[in-house]
Order: sequence, then structure tokens, then C-alpha cells
Amino acid sequence: MAEATSNAGKIGGAGLRGQSAGETSLSTVGKDGVGLTYRGYPIEVLAENASFEEVAYMLLRGKLPNRAELHSFRDELINARELPAALRAVLELIPRDAHPMDAIRTGVSMLGSYDPEHSFAEQQKIAARLVGALPSILLYWYRFSHDGKRIETATNDGSHAGNFLYLLHDRVPSEAHAAAMNASLILYAEHEFNASTFTARVCASTLSDLYSCVTGAIGSLRGPLHGGANEAAMEMLERFDSPDAGEMEILRMLAAKEKIMGFGHPVYRSADPRSPIIQSWAERLSKGDAKREQLYAIARRVEQVMGREKKLFPNADYYHAPAYRAMGIPTKLFTPIFACSRVSGWCAHVFEQRANNRIIRPSADYTGPASAEWVEIGLRS
Ligand code: COA
Repeated sequence: MAEATSNAGKIGGAGLRGQSAGETSLSTVGKDGVGLTYRGYPIEVLAENASFEEVAYMLLRGKLPNRAELHSFRDELINARELPAALRAVLELIPRDAHPMDAIRTGVSMLGSYDPEHSFAEQQKIAARLVGALPSILLYWYRFSHDGKRIETATNDGSHAGNFLYLLHDRVPSEAHAAAMNASLILYAEHEFNASTFTARVCASTLSDLYSCVTGAIGSLRGPLHGGANEAAMEMLERFDSPDAGEMEILRMLAAKEKIMGFGHPVYRSADPRSPIIQSWAERLSKGDAKREQLYAIARRVEQVMGREKKLFPNADYYHAPAYRAMGIPTKLFTPIFACSRVSGWCAHVFEQRANNRIIRPSADYTGPASAEWVEIGLRS
């Protein structure tokens, strides 16, 4: 049998880093010192001034909405909050110990067979439906499987962010919590050719339907090297009972060459512009509660140690951990919230791919044997 060729891992090992895989007008990620912008608007300006609904509209429909456009887009999202009975029945079958990402993956897939995309002319309507329905899918399943409660997902007509917290806690959130959740959803809405978005674009390039593109993207986002990092960061921070204990454990983990979740980024080299925004919310929401202040202090210390020891900076996921905890959000819902927001970016990328499509089909450097001889089954080792 011939020897395998010797360049194993060259491309896979590099993870396509630094290679352009296409064009987008949706966002810049750290390009030429510009930082993160959505259609030219800096993330700092959007997080300070916009509602998530305005940002989702802008990503999906190409411009900021005027009052009337925003009003009717909000109505589209609110109308999508009510789930078909068949979908609720499917969600009730998903076990309590499933990961919530499994629940939303199944929910989106089911919605796609219940109300399919017959033609690309329906794409805007379906995208609004997906953005509006995802929190209902997630929280209907979560509340049923964890609290034994069939929540009414269509009763509240509040903002997208406030509605999420309302469905989770059965009460209207404080202004600060709704504003922090709104900022969080904006920060997570779009990020160029990240793994889940690229998954959606590859799927779109085959001219598949929007539900399939989003279902695939949810699968990519689930991994701990992508969206799962906010949950992994929370689990790590909760293991430390003081900043000093956190520092010692981080030093041990670094010495053991373990990855510290919530640090580093495949594109940003010195800072993630989303991090200071969510960090300031984490700090603000933690004030006045000893347990939350302690968690925030531990997070700050770990950040200092990572900067000092590895010159690594917190990414968008890191301070989401103390911020979400301060809002009373269970850890297993962290990554699905990311999906509830990023679905707007995924759909916008699918539209962009469809508008100028060629099937995405790279080639690979073969590393297997040059030739192999057929062996009858009874003679195989
Ligand atoms: N903890 C410890 N070391 C880290 C690290 C982390 N979070 N992130 C990167 N490093 C180390 C790498 O091991 C590498 O060290 P080496 O040169 O000794 O091998 C060095 O820093 C450079 O890594 P880099 O090339 O910048 O990382 P990458 O592009 O391969 O990976 C991530 C980027 C995001 C996958 C990686 O930083 C990571 O796994 N982070 C934790 C998961 C996470 O937070 N993901 C969310 C991303 S938004």
C-alpha cells in the first residue's frame, strides 16, 4: 500500500484563517482598524442607541427603518411569537436533559416542514418569523421541561429583549435588565464569516431553503469553540470562590496548556470591541448584590491574569457570563440566546449569498494512500 502524502493538516490545521471566502456588505470585523460595524454603523453606536428590532431590520432589509417600517416589523416579530400547536407538541417530546440548542435546532426544522419556504420571494417573511419565533421555541421547551409549565408565548407585546426575560421569569423585567438584554442581542447579531454564518452560506449556496440554512448554523454555533464559550466561561468562573482562588487555578490551567474559555479570537488580535460594552453592563447589573459582585470581581481578576500571562483579551462571550447571571438567566440558555440574536445575521447572509450565488465547493489536499487493493471481506484483518 502506498504511503500517505506528507502535508496532513496543512489546510485543516490553519482553519482557513486569514483567507477571504467571499464578499459581504453586512459587517466589518476588525478590518483596517475600523473595528466592528454593521452596514457601516459602529457596534458602540448601535449598542448605545438602537433597539435589537432596528438592528435586525437593518441587517435583513438593508437600511435603518423609519417609524412606520419599524412599527410593522415589530408586529411581524410579535405575530411570530405564537407557536403552532404541532410545534408545541414536538417541543414537549424533547427531554429535559437535552441541550437547549437541540431544542431550537429541532424547533426550527419542524417549523420548516410546517410552513415551508416555497420560493425565495418569501424569504423576508420567513426571516421575520424565525427571529420572532426563536425565543418562543426555546422558552416554551425550557419552561415545559424544567418547570412543567405550558407558557403562553404570545401574551406579551413588549420589546424582543424584554419579551425574552418575560417568558423566562413570568414577570416584566426591570428597565436595566431589558436594556442589558437589548444590548446583548445587538452585540451578537452579526459577525461576518464566523463558523455558523459560513455554515448558513454554504447551505444557501446549494439553493436550499432558509430553515435548513438556519438549522445547520445552529449546529455550528453549538460547539464550545464558537457560541458555547459563554457557557463554558460561566462554568469555569463559578468554580472559583474568590479572585485569589481564580488566579491560582488559571495559572495552573495555563501551565497545563488548557484553553481558558472566553479569551482569544480567531480574527481580533488585541481586543474584541464587544467586550467592554457587555463588561460595563455586567458591572452595572452586579452592583448591590454580594454574590454577583464577587462573581464580577473574579471575572476581572481572571481577565488581568490572562492579560499579564498570555496577552490574551476577553472576547464577547466572557462578560456575558456575569451579565446573564445577574439577569437570572440559567447557564444552559446562554448559547441559545446567542442563536436568538444571530439568526438575524444568518438570514441576512443567506439573502446576500442568494443574490450573488455560486455553489461553495472548495477542494482539498489529498493525504490518503495513492492506491489501494481490493480485499475480499473474509480475508480482511
Ligand atoms: N486560552 C489559552 N490559550 C489560548 C487561548 C485561550 N482561550 N486562545 C488562544 N490561546 C493560545 C493558543 O493555544 C495559541 O498558543 P500556541 O501558539 O502556544 O499554540 C496562541 O494563544 C494563539 O492562538 P490563536 O491562533 O490566536 O487562536 P486560534 O485562532 O487558533 O483560536 C479561538 C481562536 C477563539 C478558537 C481560541 O482563542 C479559543 O479556543 N478560545 C477559547 C474559546 C472561546 O472563547 N471561543 C469564543 C470565540 S468568540
